[in-house]
Amino acid sequence: MRAGAGGRREAFRMNHFPTLCAAVLLAALSSSCRSEAGASSVDAVGRGRYLVQTMGCADCHTPRGPGGQPMAGRDLTGHPADAPLPTWDPSLLEKHGVATIAPTGTAFAGPFGVSVAPNLTPDPETGIARLTADALWKSWQSGVHWSSDRPILPPMPVEAYRHLSRDDVDAVHAYLHSLQPVVNRAPESVPAIAPGR
Ligand code: HEC
Repeated sequence: MRAGAGGRREAFRMNHFPTLCAAVLLAALSSSCRSEAGASSVDAVGRGRYLVQTMGCADCHTPRGPGGQPMAGRDLTGHPADAPLPTWDPSLLEKHGVATIAPTGTAFAGPFGVSVAPNLTPDPETGIARLTADALWKSWQSGVHWSSDRPILPPMPVEAYRHLSRDDVDAVHAYLHSLQPVVNRAPESVPAIAPGR
């Protein structure tokens, strides 16, 4: 009996040896994969910060106070919900004015309509929490807004950003998603020509 039990134990160990090995190997592999993914996403956030800083996103997406200084705590939060929007009419062309800009520097009016820089922080309701890397890539490739089917209005430099590599767009996305979410519902842009016309 004892010998039989010992034999079964032995068989148990032998049968499970490959399973255990596989489990250990898998754990080792997955932890090394995890740390690689961790490292590369940190790199992507750093690269994204560099791109966002050098591509001037804050010039239009960070509101400025009366002295022209960026408003504290509102980095990349878009046109403030309660700030007035600029107006424009064709008579301004006679004064050689093709567009007007809100004092905050975050909303623009011209023959294209009124274009309002949105909140780029990952707030679920008012920001870009739902914007995937894929949708950002498609939007900048096509020039069509990520959350509607209308063209992206000037002066958002989408014609220039169309030339970014997929990795760089992913990095910009990773950086924006690493930001502290800030609640600010920037008003909707108002295109002068409705889509499809
Ligand atoms: C010269 C001003 C300007 C600059 C620079 C700028 N934006 Fe914008 N951006 C705008 C305006 C204005 C809109 C609103 C356009 C609209 O509603 O059609 C906008 C819209 C967007 C949108 C929503 C439209 C879409 O689907 O892409 C995203 C996302 C965005 N900007 C991200 C960025 C990022 C990231 C940068 C820097 C890499 C940047 N913007 C630089 C002015 C700018």
